[in-house]
Amino acid sequence: MSVEHTIVFVGAGNMAGALIRGLIGTGTVPADSVIAADPDQDRLRALETELEIRVTSDNAEAVKDATVVVLAIKPQVFAQVLPGLSAAVPPDALLISIAAGISTRIIERSFPDGSRVVRAMPNTPALVGAGASAIAGGTHATDDDLELAETLFRSVGIAVRVPEEQIDAVTGLSGSGPAYVFAMIEALRDAGAREGLPEETALQLAAQTVFGAARLLLDEKEAPEVLRDRVTSPGGTTRAGLDALAAAGFADAIMGAVRAATRRSVELGKIAEETEY
Ligand SMILES: NC(=O)c1ccc[n+]([C@@H]2O[C@H](COP(=O)([O-])OP(=O)(O)OC[C@H]3O[C@@H](n4cnc5c(N)ncnc54)[C@H](OP(=O)(O)O)[C@@H]3O)[C@@H](O)[C@H]2O)c1
Repeated sequence: MSVEHTIVFVGAGNMAGALIRGLIGTGTVPADSVIAADPDQDRLRALETELEIRVTSDNAEAVKDATVVVLAIKPQVFAQVLPGLSAAVPPDALLISIAAGISTRIIERSFPDGSRVVRAMPNTPALVGAGASAIAGGTHATDDDLELAETLFRSVGIAVRVPEEQIDAVTGLSGSGPAYVFAMIEALRDAGAREGLPEETALQLAAQTVFGAARLLLDEKEAPEVLRDRVTSPGGTTRAGLDALAAAGFADAIMGAVRAATRRSVELGKIAEETEY
């Protein structure tokens, strides 16, 4: 599905680059409808050469004809960037923020009354088109705005809608989740090496096993419990492995990780709420 919008990225770093590549690569928007603004000239030149989009280091100039503005800057620079943007963004433009910990309320406070804001939480697999993004609407965001945001984020993976109060849980699960999976792959690699495999072979097998298991689950649309039971025969090797995982508290460890990350996201959101923008 293609959309007719002038989409301006304020901040042209990793996540913006992934989204722009996804949007153009999937034909969701033509390159001449995308503008990227960033202080880093080298980064801009690289994006301009690779993707043939328009680039500028002037945020206010970039957004003046925008119909969608994607705030893809780090949360720490919001306080510095928002005041200059609020007067420059056309009043009917949709604002989409991907910044962790910055609520739609904070953004709404910095823009004219009635501004439409959508908050998205993507994750790093978006860099390879396999992201998992959640989208939440602010006070004035319409259903069309959420649909548009979903279309944009689907260009780099899947996108789901959640109420904004669930964004902290999304952060704890899929936002931080790739790191938990990397930790598991590390452990599988080290375990394989301990059992006698060359480390590189163990790493390849571990990574492909995680990828393949996730792909199987998504393709077959079966519950993980069902797929797990299918490969677990009584007295077999998988049963022995799963018993060892259960004895070590595997499920509790994962639940603890998601809970800790979710709580930290809530704390960081509170700190952001108390910051002057
Ligand atoms: N990476 C993820 O997995 C992930 C997941 C979910 C959400 N996010 C959110 O996505 C946002 C961007 O993350 P990222 O990983 O893409 O960070 P990043 O690569 O550091 O990109 C941020 C970009 O903004 C630029 N910038 C700094 N000050 C600016 C200004 N005044 N005006 C315009 N641009 C400015 C930075 O330039 P300099 O480098 O020159 O400062 C950099 O190019 C963050 O808010 C983060 O919370 C990221």
